[in-house]
Amino acid sequence: MHKRNLLNLGITFALLSSTPFLGIQAQAQSQAQPQAQSSGAKLKIGFMLPATGTYAALGTAIDNGFRLYVAEQGGKIAGREIEYVRVDDESDPSKAADNVNKLIKRDNVDVIIGSVHSGVAMAMAKAAKESGTLLIVPNAGAVAVTGPMCAPNIFRSSFSNWQPGYAMGEVAAKKGHKRIVTITWKYAAGEETMKGFKDGFEKGGGAVIKDLTLPFPNVEFQALLTEIASLKPDAVFTFFAGAGAVKFVKDYAASGLKKSIPLYGSGFLTDGVLDAEGADADGILTTLHYADNLNFKRDQSFRLAYAKAYKLQPDVYAVQGYDAAQMLGIGLGATKGDPKNISDFAQALRKAKIDSPRGAFTLSSSHNPVQDIYLRRVVDKENVNEGVASKALADPGLGCKM
Ligand code: BEZ
Repeated sequence: MHKRNLLNLGITFALLSSTPFLGIQAQAQSQAQPQAQSSGAKLKIGFMLPATGTYAALGTAIDNGFRLYVAEQGGKIAGREIEYVRVDDESDPSKAADNVNKLIKRDNVDVIIGSVHSGVAMAMAKAAKESGTLLIVPNAGAVAVTGPMCAPNIFRSSFSNWQPGYAMGEVAAKKGHKRIVTITWKYAAGEETMKGFKDGFEKGGGAVIKDLTLPFPNVEFQALLTEIASLKPDAVFTFFAGAGAVKFVKDYAASGLKKSIPLYGSGFLTDGVLDAEGADADGILTTLHYADNLNFKRDQSFRLAYAKAYKLQPDVYAVQGYDAAQMLGIGLGATKGDPKNISDFAQALRKAKIDSPRGAFTLSSSHNPVQDIYLRRVVDKENVNEGVASKALADPGLGCKM
């Protein structure tokens, strides 16, 4: 029987047999708004995530994953009850400094969790570094966050943009491709993913013959697709995510290019969006630190619990939110719940093996996950694992001094 069907059966059984997690969804919805002042002993967590725009669904999945882990711990982290404050950052870097400073200075949060967009995360890292507030980044891959902007109080539960790009560069070179065109949004996530790809691809003897870009979150791809057709590369490599990824995959297929020029991506191209992409995504190869059919027990129980709580299949964003909460638990466990004891918090995380649904990972000295990157193929609306493309891949962490 197909894996998805097996999982669905398991979920149905779980839904029928018990209901304790069904409360999470209602709880998540009721907590999705800023709340009243904290009551002393509660740990105040500031979520700065997109609730609107291209990346809105990604923000929701991170929030869901985080709350699932907290619910599994009985609603507490390191013995402390939680109070959430949530800001919609709209994936808009121009509003990010104001938004994060509201969380730090007005709401006096103990820890900040965010964000999805690299430009927003850089403003958050600057504010966290200046104020000393704990920051865990549950998605944004901006290399600078765990590079030049690294700090003892800044951690990432996700990836650096360089990591999935580099892994796919190696894969594409091994496939014998020589001339590749890249296409992405012109901001840190796109540019740094392309840099990673180029590093891996050129090392294997390939050449990037053209880098095509358009501003975030523009989705007018037509002129660029026409240019790809005239360049006739061996393949195309891309970074798009969220609603933009759906539009790109559909436009690529509609242009007829999919039949003649293979499309590769960093895994965000097809993660969390396969229902919307439908058959247009079939066969696309991507690289990422998660896949839909990892056979780890840890992943199976996570997927079941997530589906039971939210009646949705989890994706990489949900995993990263879940792991951000796990990391917070490990760090605060070592400080008896004190978020100001950065030194013990950091020491505990640097030594930790984080028991993630993606497979256990550790943190580099600059606090970025050192993790396996999987090669995945889209089959039947699933990102099916074809094996590890890069084992225990670490971001170089260039420029980090701490
Ligand atoms: C980023 O801006 O870093 C990003 C956004 C969506 C998916 C992956 C990375």
